Amino acid sequence: MKEKIAQIEQLLVTELAGCENLQALDALRVKVLGKKGELTALLRGMGQLSPEERPAAGQMINEAREKFTGLLEEKQALLKKQEQEAALKRETIDVTQPAAMPKAGSVHPMTLVLNEVVDCFTGMGFEVVEGPEVELDHYNFELMNIPKNHPARDAQDTFYVDDNIVLRTHTSPVQARTMLTRKPPIRVICPGRVYRADEMDATHSPVFHQMEGLVIDKDVTMADLRGTLNAFAERLYGKGITTRFRPSFFPFTEPSAEVDLTCVNCHGKGCRVCKGTGWIEVLGCGMVNPHVLEMCGIDPNEYSGFAFGIGIERITMQRYGIPDLRLLFEGDVRFLGQFR
Ligand code: PHE
Repeated sequence: MKEKIAQIEQLLVTELAGCENLQALDALRVKVLGKKGELTALLRGMGQLSPEERPAAGQMINEAREKFTGLLEEKQALLKKQEQEAALKRETIDVTQPAAMPKAGSVHPMTLVLNEVVDCFTGMGFEVVEGPEVELDHYNFELMNIPKNHPARDAQDTFYVDDNIVLRTHTSPVQARTMLTRKPPIRVICPGRVYRADEMDATHSPVFHQMEGLVIDKDVTMADLRGTLNAFAERLYGKGITTRFRPSFFPFTEPSAEVDLTCVNCHGKGCRVCKGTGWIEVLGCGMVNPHVLEMCGIDPNEYSGFAFGIGIERITMQRYGIPDLRLLFEGDVRFLGQFR
């Protein structure tokens, strides 16, 4: 019996040394201690021993089982530790290696400026409204007091979809849409795309952006208009930037003005950007024509108002020193990537 146990121990020790992973170790455990294992076979064979021999043999087998189990557990702990160390090594990350940077997009300069301009006005209590780019002639022209024979209606200037539908030539039709659906006091801005049948060059594009403003209330005067636009100029460009009003004409405002801002480049001294004048033209405005108020259901004896239309491209080009309007529409990532 002793001999047999020693043999099994010998076998176990040799095979343990050759065990390289936990699966192999488990197989070895089954082979020695399992139901059909070598030591279990010895236990089964005890029936052939005499009753006197049995207790001693049984004790030997039990001791051997304990010893073997100990050996197996020791090896198991060792293998587990090794596997863990190997895993740690495998999964090591070199944190000093440069990371692969995902390509990030950037916000279009027109959007940057538009957001700023909108912020200036929402800060003064204006609300943003929208209108359709494909617009009825009725809103784009008729309600804006632009008569049938007006040159702006010429097909050379306007994209006609059909006799009654145009691509809006300005954001002013949103004035009419707003007055027809809201009651004064009204204080809205409407940024958006507008279309004119222009050639494309450094300063012209068949599609560009405007932002309309409209205020209707009791006792609104031209002084309110001037104050609002001065506040806008200062908020956008900082102290010292102000407006200059030049008399002008629009069918939907009376009186009307074209408005220049102090040239941001030279602060009014005169430079190349402002062609020596010290001023940059950025918008048209005026007091809403009483006839327009009337057509849009607002009593001109009770209410008055002002409106303005700002060209966003001008401001963007000036803001970032962009020399050619086409850069804003071409979508060249080398250009756009500069605005991060
Ligand atoms: N709609 C005018 C244009 O496109 C601008 C404007 C808006 C003028 C509102 C006066 C009042 O040129």
